Amino acid sequence: MCGIVGYVGQKQALEVVVSGLRRLEYRGYDSAGVAVISEGELEVRKKAGKLANLESLIGQDPLPSSTTGIGHTRWATHGGPTDSNAHPHVSENGRIAVIHNGIIENFAELRDELTAAGVHLSSETDTEVVAHLLARELPLAEFDLTVAMMRTCALLEGAFTLLCLDPHQPDVVVGARRNSPLVVGVGDGENFLASDVAAFVEYTSEALELGQDQIVTLTPDGVSVIDFDGNPVIPLAFTIDWDASAAEKDGYELFMLKEIAEQPRAVADTLRGRIGKDFRIQLDEANLDDAVIKKISKVMVIACGTAAHAGMVAKYAIEHWTRLPVDVELASEFRYRDPIVGPDTLVIAISQSGETMDTLMALRYAKEQGAHTLAICNTVGSTIPRESDAVLYTRAGPEVAVASTKAFLTQIVAAYLVGLYLAQVRGALFEDEVRSILRDLDDMPSKIDLVLDTVEPVRALARQLVDARSVLFLGRHVGFPVALEGALKLKELAYMHAEGFPAGELKHGPIALIEDGIPVVVIVPSPRGRAVLHDKIVSNIQEVRARGARIIAIAEEGDESITPYADDIIRIPEVPTLLQPLVATVPLQVFACEMATAKGHDVDQPRNLAKSVTVE
Ligand code: G6P
Repeated sequence: MCGIVGYVGQKQALEVVVSGLRRLEYRGYDSAGVAVISEGELEVRKKAGKLANLESLIGQDPLPSSTTGIGHTRWATHGGPTDSNAHPHVSENGRIAVIHNGIIENFAELRDELTAAGVHLSSETDTEVVAHLLARELPLAEFDLTVAMMRTCALLEGAFTLLCLDPHQPDVVVGARRNSPLVVGVGDGENFLASDVAAFVEYTSEALELGQDQIVTLTPDGVSVIDFDGNPVIPLAFTIDWDASAAEKDGYELFMLKEIAEQPRAVADTLRGRIGKDFRIQLDEANLDDAVIKKISKVMVIACGTAAHAGMVAKYAIEHWTRLPVDVELASEFRYRDPIVGPDTLVIAISQSGETMDTLMALRYAKEQGAHTLAICNTVGSTIPRESDAVLYTRAGPEVAVASTKAFLTQIVAAYLVGLYLAQVRGALFEDEVRSILRDLDDMPSKIDLVLDTVEPVRALARQLVDARSVLFLGRHVGFPVALEGALKLKELAYMHAEGFPAGELKHGPIALIEDGIPVVVIVPSPRGRAVLHDKIVSNIQEVRARGARIIAIAEEGDESITPYADDIIRIPEVPTLLQPLVATVPLQVFACEMATAKGHDVDQPRNLAKSVTVE
């Protein structure tokens, strides 16, 4: 949610900043802007719309050469996506340019104070007040930009990452961080700041984590960090273990297509090294405390969006394997009720980005209640794992398309490993049971490959159904969260009405939605697993079919009993029931992607969305 880049060094800042923004555009694409310092002056270009609009503006009105710059790609909160609301915002005296990610909650009060002092604000954003405040504080800080930032942060409430420039200090970028993400890239004679390492990974793999309430001052040769009280801080260094090519399209037309295709590899990587030769789960890296695991009496999963669906899938497995009760809670709701969570609870926060504000705030609340916390996360060094007692990283690699695909599958796999580990430590499963599940898990990359080899009919079906007004998704057991995920993908990408239901619940109301020809996608449980699930879903199919629905069955290879009841059948390989989501989700991802393409939508950057949502 809003992408931020800062650079100081020897290269042309504009090139570094724009290439960084291109990699961060997944965070928001309502407008974009840059500021550079040239001959003691700030030069700013900003434009509503995607980054391409800014690039064409710069093409018409070029920026001077400069080795210091900042850039921003926006997901609008305060004020519509217009040129004047785009960042950077500049103080009236032209002395400060600032970019921001987050929300300044007391901005109205600050705006009134500034207006009363005669300052004229020229945008509707909360950010602009920061530019004016920094300009006001700068002389009081004896023109030390870092001190001015410290004084300004003391006035702000809310969540923010801020970067600022002062043209009189041409080799300096100052950043501040409270809650919203910011990382440092350390180069040779150059340094970087960004919301995410993706912005600078093509220049350096060496990075520094910044903690909450810290201010960072960047020069070509140095990075210094202090806290909001001015005390020096030594940031934690880490090495980025993927290179820039991992965040390229690599010959695919869309990031989403590439990421769907990467799923067998992502699942294999997430399993790698975590299953011992003796078929024992090895999660030493996660820092899970076995004594705590033995003592807990329940598990709570907190997450948003797709990650919450992964949590819902995991609930079935973890409860089955450990006999511990597992609640799955949407993070945005969690702390606003009175959840029963305490020292007996293991709270698992699932997040691809590790920065989702709703999840982060729920995690902090759980910690305050004394819960033990574990993050399942894809982004090394991000805030949610930093603030959790333990962390198990999914190894999906960078996910760029806004709609999550490979992260979902790897979140399920990681949560399953955690479930099996809990069962192992608590002695809840026999060794041969664990062994058999692990063998099946190990086979999943090749099974997902099989699905990918046979998705052409799914594409054809999506093109056929492009004018459908609505698509319903039905599932039972683990197929229910898969149905929710299939519907979410379609909403996100095809902007059409889509809903997922537990198949048995349909008759209690939603069946009224069924009308002649409505496509209903049904995730059919394996007939070899719990046959009762299969039988019940066949009945549910008949209920909607009798009312005119067009049934698209996602069914196991060899399940011929479904043939009489389905108009279209998408085959998936035979796998145990609990693992079916790992194969059944893939055609649904392809379906949504193809539908959106057929409608002419921007699949990688769907309207109104952002990949990393750092506001509540
Ligand atoms: C946003 C994204 C979703 C994602 C959700 C949770 O809404 O658009 O695709 O599932 O955030 O993100 P996280 O990074 O916490 O997994």
